[in-house]
Amino acid sequence: MEIIKKLESGRVDKPLLAKLLCARGNLQKELFKVSRQVRQKYCGDKSVVRGVVEISNYCRKNCDYCAMQYSNRKLQRYRLTSEQIFSLAIQVKNLKIKTVFLQSGEDPIADKVIEDVLPRIKQELKLNILLCLGNRSQKQYQKLKELGASDYILKFETSNPGLFKKLRHESLEVRLKCLRLLKQVGFRVGTGNIVGLQGQTIEDIVEDILLGKKCHTEFISSSPFIPNKNSVCENKPPANINLVLNNIAIWRILLKDALIPTVSALETIKKNGQLLGFNAGANIITVNFTPSRYREKYLIYSERRFIVSLNYALSTIKSAHLKPDLMI
Ligand code: 5AD
Ligand code: SF4
Repeated sequence: MEIIKKLESGRVDKPLLAKLLCARGNLQKELFKVSRQVRQKYCGDKSVVRGVVEISNYCRKNCDYCAMQYSNRKLQRYRLTSEQIFSLAIQVKNLKIKTVFLQSGEDPIADKVIEDVLPRIKQELKLNILLCLGNRSQKQYQKLKELGASDYILKFETSNPGLFKKLRHESLEVRLKCLRLLKQVGFRVGTGNIVGLQGQTIEDIVEDILLGKKCHTEFISSSPFIPNKNSVCENKPPANINLVLNNIAIWRILLKDALIPTVSALETIKKNGQLLGFNAGANIITVNFTPSRYREKYLIYSERRFIVSLNYALSTIKSAHLKPDLMI
């Protein structure tokens, strides 16, 4: 199809992206088919597997869509110790997963804990370390890098500055500056958007796609908005899964070898949603290692959040005709 050929060649304009973003039926089938071909050509048939540990649900930010926002007084907060994190990283290693992913709310107090544990994970376990801790200073990013982390995810969430400000109560410019700092410090960087935010238009998502391309990051994700109880957006409708899947496919075709996850929130909105993510061109899945008593307090994808086990990840990878990239 002519329109998909244009996308492949990178000759994109906004109306073309809007049309592909809303694709259904044969056009969508073709979009996913080409996306899988591009994945095969540039990334092969391997899916990356990551092990996530959610180390703290304290957060100094107040994003309207997130139940971890600081004004949610109903949420019991927790912060793991470095010993707890280290023993969970051992579990990640024992399952032959190469990357441990440490994620938290924006909690500078957890920095000390992380600084303690990073060198041990790096030197004793020789795992690849990916962080997702939010905005920090250049000095702090530098420190985390020196202590052994190699990758960092900082999603721009939405490219619309007004919407960003309205929902996150901070400026998009500051967020993008942090992204640049992460690159300068030498991290392999990931970014991404949330689809289905309150007040977001198709044109906004088209701008997200273009911003994602401009960022030139190693990883990029598109996640569906899920209404979180006890957040300002708790009564808003969840994202339309087709928009997320089309966004994934478009990024795959435009960005070729980027690592793109199929996020657990896809499974929360639809059974087999993560398989659909792979079939749209994703090539990463994340297994959850947070102990269940803490996990239920880590509410980014609502109380009905889907928990990915290694078995589930491996069977989904297999159903997608891919192979897991594990230690041999
Ligand atoms: N729906 C989807 N993603 C969410 N996040 C937080 N709340 C939601 C929600 N309601 C995501 C944000 C953040 C990550 C930790 O969780 O993108 O970057
Ligand atoms: Fe905090 Fe992240 Fe939730 Fe915003 S999205 S409130 S920064 S955990």
